[in-house]
Amino acid sequence: MPYLKPERPEKVTAPSLRASKERGERLVCLTAYDYPTARIVDEAGIDIILVGDSVGNVVLGYGNTVPVTLEDILIHVKAVRRGVQRALLVADMPYGSFHTGADDTVRAALRLVKESGAEAVKLEGGQKRVKLVRRLVNEEISVMGHIGLTPQSINQLGAYRVQGKTADAARKLLDDAYALEEAGAFAIVLELVPREIAELITSSIRIPTIGIGAGVHCDIQVLVFHDLLGLAFGKLPRFVREYANLRETITDAITQESYGLPAEAAEELKIELKKVNK
Ligand code: KIV
Repeated sequence: MPYLKPERPEKVTAPSLRASKERGERLVCLTAYDYPTARIVDEAGIDIILVGDSVGNVVLGYGNTVPVTLEDILIHVKAVRRGVQRALLVADMPYGSFHTGADDTVRAALRLVKESGAEAVKLEGGQKRVKLVRRLVNEEISVMGHIGLTPQSINQLGAYRVQGKTADAARKLLDDAYALEEAGAFAIVLELVPREIAELITSSIRIPTIGIGAGVHCDIQVLVFHDLLGLAFGKLPRFVREYANLRETITDAITQESYGLPAEAAEELKIELKKVNK
């Protein structure tokens, strides 16, 4: 497999991330939702591929992640699974798939692992999810936590805002992180958190933090594929740097002029066409 980073071709696993943190390695996570993108991302040497419920915004055309279903995620993880060899493949647990009890949560997570081939699941929420995280880990399912801005709570939050801006809120975030680590999560996403708080959390826990809009001190950075490459519609979050504008590239490619017929041939053809139309 022609990886761009041949010096680190070994498979990334949930436990290997902790060792990477201990060695001070900076890793990268990207989202992917289909086979070709998964292949490109994996072969580029990206360490973690997340089939996020952001699929709702960037692929399915929803305004937020709330409508995304378990069936949606299953389809996308299956496609991505076929394209990934080296990266750790993580499936998001969509809104509603872990809200009706521990047994339902285990059932949904097992489907993501057994049917679609995810190697870990991610679920949003801090201390209030600790029991669920512990239960999933007990059932041999690797769990990634997600605190700070939790987009599935949009109907309660009202808007996507930076979280943890007061001392109390920051303390709660730190307690969330400790609780998730203690429950057995192997990593924690910190979304839209002040960089000082992300740094404090990162240095306080032994499992890696995965930052999105949380500053440079997180162990791992995660971005949404479509945001990075100019394939998203609407306003981009401030922290996103667009490295390419594939929208423009695609538009140019599909609207390119076809080759013109030399004037002489066109003239001749007109005569012939006239004859045909008589
Ligand atoms: O759904 C998603 O893509 C995510 C990342 C932004 C962390 O949750």
